[in-house]
Amino acid sequence: MEAITYARAHRDRFLDELKDFVRIPSVSTQAKHGPDMEEAAGWLRDRLLEAGFPGAEVMPTEGHPVVYAEWSEAGPGAPTVLIYGHYDVQPPDPLELWKTPPFEPTLVGDDLFGRGASDDKGQLYTHVKAAEAWKETRGAPPINLKCIFEGEEECGSPNLEAFIREHQDLLSADVALVSDTGFVGMGVPSIVYGLRGLAYLEIEVTGPDHDLHSGTYGGAVLNPINGLCRLVAQLQDEDGRILIPGFYDNVVELPDEERAELAEVPFDRETWLEETGVPTDWGEAEYSILERVSARPTLDLNGIWGGYTEPGAKTVLPSKAFAKLSMRLVPDQDPERIAEVAAEHIESLAPPALRVDVRPLHGGKPAVVDRESPAMAAASRAYEAGFGVEPVLVRRGGSIPVVAEIQSILGIETILMGFGLPDDRLHSPNEKFHVPNFYRGIETSIHLMELLNEGLD
Ligand code: BES
Ligand code: MN
Ligand code: MN
Repeated sequence: MEAITYARAHRDRFLDELKDFVRIPSVSTQAKHGPDMEEAAGWLRDRLLEAGFPGAEVMPTEGHPVVYAEWSEAGPGAPTVLIYGHYDVQPPDPLELWKTPPFEPTLVGDDLFGRGASDDKGQLYTHVKAAEAWKETRGAPPINLKCIFEGEEECGSPNLEAFIREHQDLLSADVALVSDTGFVGMGVPSIVYGLRGLAYLEIEVTGPDHDLHSGTYGGAVLNPINGLCRLVAQLQDEDGRILIPGFYDNVVELPDEERAELAEVPFDRETWLEETGVPTDWGEAEYSILERVSARPTLDLNGIWGGYTEPGAKTVLPSKAFAKLSMRLVPDQDPERIAEVAAEHIESLAPPALRVDVRPLHGGKPAVVDRESPAMAAASRAYEAGFGVEPVLVRRGGSIPVVAEIQSILGIETILMGFGLPDDRLHSPNEKFHVPNFYRGIETSIHLMELLNEGLD
């Protein structure tokens, strides 16, 4: 196919462009990167226009802007695909653990290192280049394309739901396409049909109204750090079962058929142990590792602090202690309700000697998409064409809140076709994107556009 030949001939330039993208430090959660967010949005709009999209614009929101582009030359007879991605990235910290600077993209062997290379710049860019390949060989893509690239995914997409509601007509499509996930293993392309949701809380525990000498007062004043540790220890048993009343009320158990299918997904425990560096796995023994990390809800402390943490010893009975607590959710748990029952329970555990305040940070709904749709079948064939292997169907444990919003507001399903690898180190130092997956991802997208054109029914 000419579009594939074109994409192969221009690989080096495509990679150079991706490097330019990764070079922009678009960290959405840090105010100091505001100008970089604008730059990244403008850069992406310009590349969309250059690729051939007749219309592309940077659209404001209450937070970081959305980049929107549309290409409808295929006409009303052809399907319309809404491509979602995010141009924001996680903070690069801790900086000292990077082997190459996070915003100086560096090619080492077949891997491009840099913050956002895999999550999600390299992945979303595959579709932009696929569209270009169609433009340069056939004049336009064979289907209608709409792109929505947001700049706030890594901080919980606080303004995206309102944006989608306000622009329902603009965003109307037959199916949505998201490349922001990964393969279950090297050489095992994976279509994700289920994602977990998220409820995120911050806990603040206050004891005395100022720090006290632990010799003068220790023994008669309850230390807020001790109290916080005792409190959070009561939220989960040793096997990972969560002890918040009502937490499991709406959890839908995995159907036997799905458990059987997941058991067939190639998974090697030893490789998984190596990937994580843990001596052994942990958690609900009656569920497999794959089930535990994708179809079971969790509770995790992301940070806990207070008192003295600098070198050396300081005897102090601190005034305050804090914790950040997140819960990954599965269908049909509702993030708002879970945040409520968790906050209520945590506050009810407060001993009389401490004040406990719980604040919700952000959340997102879990999602499961239809595995039998014609678009799913097209996605599967596209992977076969792009990677030479039939993909597996899996649930994954991460969260992409927009998938549930696309379902409920736009009424369409999403196809999650990721090109990441398990060792991409998302959110961690030394994030990388496997360059052959970038090239094959572009080819997979080219194939998908053609396959979708052949019909969605
Ligand atoms: N791309 C990830 C989500 C992901 C990663 C899904 C791997 C499946 C496999 C996304 O950018 C992400 O990090 N999401 C956050 C969501 C949160 C900020 C609401 C997450 O999962 O922590
Ligand atoms: Mn992502
Ligand atoms: Mn992410």
